[in-house]
Amino acid sequence: MKIGCPTEIKPQEFRVGMTPNAAGEAVARGHQALVQKGAGLGAGFSDEDYTAAGAHIIDTAEEIFATADMIVKVKEPQAGERKMLREGQLLFTYLHLAPDPEQTHDLLASGCTAIAYETVTDDRGGLPLLAPMSEVAGRLAPQVGAWTLQKANGGRGVLMGGVPGVAPGKVVVIGGGVVGTHAARMAVGLGAEVTIFDRSIQRLRELDDLFEGRAKVLYSTVDVLEEHVLDADAVIGAVLIPGAAAPKLVTDAQIKKMRRGSVLVDVAIDQGGCFETSYATTHAKPTYRVHGVVHYCVANMPGGVARTSTFALNNATLPFTVQLANKGWKQACKDDAHLKEGLNVHDGKVAYKAVADALGYKYASADSLI
Ligand SMILES: NC(=O)c1ccc[n+]([C@@H]2O[C@H](COP(=O)([O-])OP(=O)(O)OC[C@H]3O[C@@H](n4cnc5c(N)ncnc54)[C@H](O)[C@@H]3O)[C@@H](O)[C@H]2O)c1
Repeated sequence: MKIGCPTEIKPQEFRVGMTPNAAGEAVARGHQALVQKGAGLGAGFSDEDYTAAGAHIIDTAEEIFATADMIVKVKEPQAGERKMLREGQLLFTYLHLAPDPEQTHDLLASGCTAIAYETVTDDRGGLPLLAPMSEVAGRLAPQVGAWTLQKANGGRGVLMGGVPGVAPGKVVVIGGGVVGTHAARMAVGLGAEVTIFDRSIQRLRELDDLFEGRAKVLYSTVDVLEEHVLDADAVIGAVLIPGAAAPKLVTDAQIKKMRRGSVLVDVAIDQGGCFETSYATTHAKPTYRVHGVVHYCVANMPGGVARTSTFALNNATLPFTVQLANKGWKQACKDDAHLKEGLNVHDGKVAYKAVADALGYKYASADSLI
């Protein structure tokens, strides 16, 4: 199979769909890897790294879209890229179609087959191609929180870990899922005093076992959460209600009562954010202040550490990319029910129920299409 990997063109996106190692794995299995010139530069991979792995460097995205059987990317195809997709071509990337009617329309019109990273599942009910990015964003959150707490960066001048004789910073993590757990681990590692809130008793039990007292684990009620948020130096928002906008768990009035120079890191901003005063920012201008409280609300945090994120994403996607290339998408989906969950669009039909329901399309089950 000819596997095409174009340069990402969404603003501020430095990741790349395939690392040289991933391209090499595909080549070793008898496939061709067509990588756009300069596609890996943002993540620190040169064209020579790809040619050494056996990939072909192609000058333009147009040539890649015209010749590849499968396109492997990171972000959803942009309008210009969607025009180049064609019938019979397989697209494997993040799509997030439910809130994106224009993209869905264009993918249906192209006749391509689109498998979305974010809806592929695993045995434990998780989302294995989303989890690595949640791990990255979670681990990054205390790091940006600590930086933002510094005086010159707008913070109140608190060192996360304190020093002997001086109390450490207080970090509150709201939501103890993938993002929250990794955020709490990093904050504990920095020496902060950490409290994690969640609403799932089962999850609270797991967190209690995991942290063994190194982080406080509390059930999230309005009163207890407020008490801790008002006393925090940094609050990390990491909640998720699948398929819904993030609940606003900290209100404007509460933020007004927080200490000046304390920090809110709203990782859940890609679902609308869990602080009432949050709006999405970019890596170019990541923070702003409301009531003297610094807000960091970057919607694509993993893009800020593009090299680590690219490796993490490829570790998770590569086994599926190889299955798709070896067997073709129909057989690969027949053999792997979790990969089949990734099928969102085929031949002008919507194959993912939540997307069909959200956008008013008729739903065609994956089984009926393969
Ligand atoms: N900004 C970024 O770059 C970025 C990157 C990755 C993930 N995210 C986002 O981070 C959020 C968290 O993702 P995740 O992978 O950790 O999800 P997850 O499902 O693993 O965890 C979410 C947790 O929130 C808890 N929760 C739900 N409602 C709550 C409430 N009212 N109070 C306290 N806890 C509550 C759930 O019980 C669950 O444990 C999502 O919105 C995700 O899209 C953002």
